Amino acid sequence: MLMRDTLAGYGLVSRLMHWLMAIAILAMFGLGLWMVDLDYYSPYYNSAPALHKSIGILLLVALALRFGWRIANAKPDDSDLGRFERIAARIVHWGFYPLLLALMVSGYLISTADGRPIEVFGWFSVPSPGENKGLEDTAGAVHAWLAYTTVVLAAVHAAGAFKHHFVDRKQTLTRMWSGPPSA
Ligand code: HEM
Ligand code: HEM
Repeated sequence: MLMRDTLAGYGLVSRLMHWLMAIAILAMFGLGLWMVDLDYYSPYYNSAPALHKSIGILLLVALALRFGWRIANAKPDDSDLGRFERIAARIVHWGFYPLLLALMVSGYLISTADGRPIEVFGWFSVPSPGENKGLEDTAGAVHAWLAYTTVVLAAVHAAGAFKHHFVDRKQTLTRMWSGPPSA
């Protein structure tokens, strides 16, 4: 089984990280929207945000690992794309990294603005940088805005993937799903 990325396509590590993170990020969007409307008497009032924060911290770790893996590996060849599509794909792919980082950092700042740490599934805790009154609201507005931007970008990105698959009949989607054609 091919682990590393090559010019021909993505290895197992990148493919697993791509799809697991895509599912987790989209689920986190749904969870985030649902949990902010929970009533104080809901049985999920405390557990839903705790889950959101714990998964969020794990996603931050995953993002760092994935970025390290990305720069340590060859980027699969995209020279069969037209000039516009190639530039657009590169902007979207690289754009996800700072966007997701900012999303996660803003989430961390909302959660720790009251000075309390984040307990990650009871496994370990991430300390607060210190109490900062008022930061919660600003970081919350930024967080919501970044979350919507991420989902819109993911939709544009998925539309591009489907266009290459169904209209142009290229290997783009299959090589992200099952690896390089030759593997
Ligand atoms: C994949 C990453 C994430 C996504 C897609 C995401 C998405 C969302 C969404 C859509 C909301 C609801 C916003 C609103 O309508 O007000 C939300 C709220 C929230 N998120 Fe995230 N989030 C992510 C990561 C994180 C992380 C890493 C943390 C903390 C470590 C976090 C902490 C929070 C908190 C505390 C709220 C509640 C804010 C409030 O009470 O208004 N999120 N998130
Ligand atoms: C939040 C969700 C998603 C994020 C953050 C995301 C992010 C990325 C990134 C950063 C890359 C570049 C490779 C890398 O650095 O790992 C990539 C490639 C790719 N993504 Fe996604 N993705 C998401 C969802 C999707 C969905 C829903 C689809 C398709 C239905 C998709 C299809 C692809 C394909 C086909 C490639 C390979 C493109 C190529 O070979 O040039 N992605 N994605």
